[in-house]
Amino acid sequence: MFVIACVVFAGALGLLVIAWLRRRRTGLPVIDDERPRLSLALVLVFGIGIPLVVNVTLFVIANFVVIKQTEAPAATTTPMTIEVTGRQWFWDVRYPGTDVVTANEIHIPARTRVNVVATTGDVIHSFWVPQLNRKIDMIPGRRNRVLLYADRPGRYRGQCAEFCGLQHARMAMYVYAQPPAEFQRWLRAQSAPAQPQPAGEQTFKADGCADCHTIRGTAANGTVGPDLTHVGSRTTLGALTLPNDSADLARWLRDPQHVKPGNRMPDLNLPRRDVDALVAYLEGLK
Ligand code: CUA
Repeated sequence: MFVIACVVFAGALGLLVIAWLRRRRTGLPVIDDERPRLSLALVLVFGIGIPLVVNVTLFVIANFVVIKQTEAPAATTTPMTIEVTGRQWFWDVRYPGTDVVTANEIHIPARTRVNVVATTGDVIHSFWVPQLNRKIDMIPGRRNRVLLYADRPGRYRGQCAEFCGLQHARMAMYVYAQPPAEFQRWLRAQSAPAQPQPAGEQTFKADGCADCHTIRGTAANGTVGPDLTHVGSRTTLGALTLPNDSADLARWLRDPQHVKPGNRMPDLNLPRRDVDALVAYLEGLK
């Protein structure tokens, strides 16, 4: 479609240049009163004939070829369905048929047609990974679907594309497309429960974190915030607000409302000792 548009644009510019040169040379207007049949033929061909053919062709390509290729595959025809729920302000990601729950970083196998089921837990969001496909709205009470397809492995940035409140801009995500074998390894690792770390689990519970977050394999089963079972294996925090390293995680734990104002994690006034213990615990959840 882009190539056709370029050809049309170049053609129109070419005609303009011809008209301009001719007028400079002869001083005549382009529509030549001496040869009315030729003038009429030019107008019919370039003004009506060619635009009609080009526009009908583009309409057919756009509506019958492009849409068909980018439509979400039926769950019965693809081995891969992922459920993504938009929440203020993160993405909850589930892999049906497995225990895997993650957030903000979606892994998919490359060269596989992935069926994404998009829903919302609160307001309207819009799921959009521009390099992989068009956007799809996440609307209360609806399960919209969109295809994710990556030609080659890589990291693709996605963004919420519907204003959804204060931190709409910081509601981003990464899609990691991996070679299928690597993806299967990732999926297996993610479906395992967290490695037991009794001291960390104790602090996590005592400070109230477990009321809002789930860590599979422990008593923590809150559903307000993102699942943290393997948070240490992610590259970012807060839906791409911060890189996931010890210093930034400590910053987040000390004052989440300063880092991402309006998000649902309150400032818990954690003592420094607890922040250090929680950082060690969470970064250990690979
Ligand atoms: Cu979610 Cu904007």
